[in-house]
Amino acid sequence: MMARRPPSGEIPPTAGLPPRWRDLLPSPAAPSLADGLAGLLGTERVQLECSGTAALIVALATLQRTSGRRRVIVPAYTCPLVALAVAHCGLELVPCDLAPCDLAPGSIDLDPALLAGLCDADTLAVLPTHLGGRVADVATTLAIARDAGAWVIEDAAQALGARVCDRAVGLAGDAGFFSLAVGKGLTTFEGGALVASDPALAAALAETSRDIVPRRPAWELRRSLELFAYHALYRPRLLGLAYGMPLRRALRRGDPVRAVGDDFSPPIPLHPLGAWRSRVGARALERLPAFLAAAEARALPRAERLNRIAGVEVLGDRPGTSGTWPFLWVRMPDQGARDRVLQRLWGAGLGVSRLFIHALPDYPYLHGIVPAAEVPQARRLAATTLTVSNSPWLDEAAFEAICSAITAAVAGRA
Ligand SMILES: Cc1ncc(COP(=O)(O)O)c(C=O)c1O
Repeated sequence: MMARRPPSGEIPPTAGLPPRWRDLLPSPAAPSLADGLAGLLGTERVQLECSGTAALIVALATLQRTSGRRRVIVPAYTCPLVALAVAHCGLELVPCDLAPCDLAPGSIDLDPALLAGLCDADTLAVLPTHLGGRVADVATTLAIARDAGAWVIEDAAQALGARVCDRAVGLAGDAGFFSLAVGKGLTTFEGGALVASDPALAAALAETSRDIVPRRPAWELRRSLELFAYHALYRPRLLGLAYGMPLRRALRRGDPVRAVGDDFSPPIPLHPLGAWRSRVGARALERLPAFLAAAEARALPRAERLNRIAGVEVLGDRPGTSGTWPFLWVRMPDQGARDRVLQRLWGAGLGVSRLFIHALPDYPYLHGIVPAAEVPQARRLAATTLTVSNSPWLDEAAFEAICSAITAAVAGRA
């Protein structure tokens, strides 16, 4: 039976930075969004794009200009937009399975042995990916990619603010990108940030962007209206209209891909991130460090609480890394237990959801872009995990109700 929606309203599935009306009246004195992000990340220069996907397209197109290589290796469990970006560039996507989790508990890393076998003289780039705020092992990927003469693009779309030994993620690879889409903490409704530590590559990224990103005022107007509507609706009592109702409709229709918003379709919009939205983002960015710290303080004891349930594991930080906490990413003992929790709580308004529904080769709409592949670890992650929101709106009573449902599901009760 599905649990009832809390009277207080709808909890979002991720901890987005709550917007404030005054963000919409940007102060010209504040640093620009690009400068603010550069300060946060500890890098010289950040290039803004209209989405994380657009940032990846610009990065891939830049590397394509320097090399005739065509293959791009990505984790077999990642956002379908990554596949669409690779296809947009006319490149060939190669899915690589994740490291078995008995080797690296809760691993989101590319399997090093498989990766070494997949990298060849035609490999343009490899994309280690920091999913759900967790920090992937970029160093191992870098060593393997370098041996094959391939570039490394860090996909940090879901990890703005995560760090490895006090260095921001995104800076260890040749290039890195972040998403500023709704649900990612800081948002300009849609937006992306692209970084490269090497000044020559950073200049090449800027040049590519000037060449391939057209001015599309109609898209910017649309995104500006969406950002305004987001400010109006991002509150517990109204979020049901924008998020909860479409979610429950998709669940009633038995369409989990639509329920989590995995149903993307080309073409990918490309246009500059407009000045007003950038300034709105710059104002919100001032609150981000404190928000991330509070999110971590909320998440860690909750992760401990969930880890005390036998057979349940919250994906955590490897030694030396400090991730961000948009949600608690929970691995259940098996798919049956995971599905029993979702039966009860997905759609209940408590912020329980899933990350990507399938491993990349299993999205029917990506056939033709993603080749069939044996990717058991990616499939296992898709089949056994769920997410529990780390939104500040999820109070202790609601969190305890979620823990009880998870405990019951592990014990085999619906
Ligand atoms: C891992 C990953 N890569 C890339 C993207 C694309 O970012 P955007 O939605 O900003 O285009 C996303 C978006 O969710 C993502 O989760």
